[in-house]
Amino acid sequence: MQRILVVDDVEVNRELLCNILDKDYIVEAAEDGEQAIQWLQEYYEETAAILLDLQMPKMDGFAVVEEMKRKGWMPKIPVLVISGEYAIEAENRCFELGVSDFIHKPFESSIVRNRIRNTMELFSTRNQLERTVQEQAEALREQEAIIRIQAEKLKEERSFNRLMMEYRSAIKEVETKLQVLNEEFSQEYNRNPFESIKSRLKSPDSIFEKLRRKGYPLTLDAIRDNLSDVAGVRVICSFSDDIYRLGGLLTKQDDIILLQAKDYIKNPKPNGYRSLHYILDVPIFLSHEKKYMNVEVQFRTIAMDFWASLEHKLRYKKTWQREDADEIVAQLKECADSIEDLDHQMQKIRDKIDRCSQ
Ligand code: GTP
Ligand code: MG
Repeated sequence: MQRILVVDDVEVNRELLCNILDKDYIVEAAEDGEQAIQWLQEYYEETAAILLDLQMPKMDGFAVVEEMKRKGWMPKIPVLVISGEYAIEAENRCFELGVSDFIHKPFESSIVRNRIRNTMELFSTRNQLERTVQEQAEALREQEAIIRIQAEKLKEERSFNRLMMEYRSAIKEVETKLQVLNEEFSQEYNRNPFESIKSRLKSPDSIFEKLRRKGYPLTLDAIRDNLSDVAGVRVICSFSDDIYRLGGLLTKQDDIILLQAKDYIKNPKPNGYRSLHYILDVPIFLSHEKKYMNVEVQFRTIAMDFWASLEHKLRYKKTWQREDADEIVAQLKECADSIEDLDHQMQKIRDKIDRCSQ
C-alpha cells in the first residue's frame, strides 16, 4: 500500500481523513508543519501524497510548501491542500507554489478518495513521461557521441582521404572542361561565357552531418551512394543565356553522364532562389582504373550569386525573432524578383549591342 501523510493541527480532521483513507493507503499523521517536514526528511521517497492544512501553529501550510520547494521535493510528491472555505487568493497562491489540488471541508469521503487517486495518477503519469523524455534525450546524446567517434575514426582512415582525393580530381576534370570552353569562346567570339568558377570539397564535418541527418551510416559506401554534392562546382555567368549554352555544351560531352538537372531559373524556389543545378557523373583516370564520380554543378548569374550568398548567410543566423524572420524572407523574395528583372534587362542590352555590332 502507498503511504499518505495527513498534516493538520485539528485532531478531528486528521481522524476523519484517516478513516476515509485507511482502507486504501497507509496513513501517517503530523500535527503541524514542523512535524511534517521532520517526517518527510526521513520518508519523502516513500510518500505518495500529502494532504496539507494551511493554518497551523509553528509552521503553516505555505511554509511547508516553501520548504519542500527548497528541498526539491515538490516535483516528487503531489500536495493536496485541505481548506475550509473557497478562498480564491489563498488557493491561487497555492497553485503558484506548485500545489496539485484542494480538498474542501466538510469532507465528502468519495470526493476525497477520487481526488487523491486522480491527483496521484496524473502526477505519476507526468513523472513517467518526464522520465521517458529524459531517458530518450540521454539515449540520443549517447548515440551522437558514438557517431562523433565513428566520424573521427573515418576521417583518419586512408580510404577516406583517398575518396576525397577522387572527388577533388573530379572537380578538376569539370573545371578543366569549363576552362577549355571558355578559352574557345573567347578566341572565337571574343567573350567569356562565365565570369568565375568557385569549387569546394564538402568538409568532413558537413559530410558526416548530412549522413546523420538523412539517417545513413557513416561509411564510405554511404557517402558515395547517397551524397551527390561532396564535389561542388559553381559557375558564375554574366547572362542567363550563357548559363544554358555552357550547361548544354558541358553535359553534351560524351564522357559526362547527366544524372539529374534541376532548373531553378525556369522554376525558382518559393524563397526566390534561382540557379541551374546539374548532378553529373564525371570520369577520373587513376593509375589502374577509370572511375565515375558525382559532381554537383551550379550555374548562376553574378546577381543570382550575390543574392544566394547573402540569403545563405542570413538563413544561418539563428537569432531572428519570428516577426523579423517573416519580414526578411519577404524582403529577400523582393530582391530576388528585382534580380530576375535586372538579369533580363542586362540580357536584352547585350543582345542589342550584339545586333548593332554585327
Ligand atoms: P541539399 O540537401 O541542401 O543539397 O539540397 P537538395 O538535395 O534538395 O538539392 P538542391 O538542388 O535543391 O540544392 C543543392 C544546393 O543548392 C544546396 O546545397 C545549396 O548550396 C543550393 N541551394 C538550394 N536552395 C537554396 C536556397 O534556397 N538558397 C541558397 N542560398 N542556396 C540554395
Ligand atoms: Mg547540397
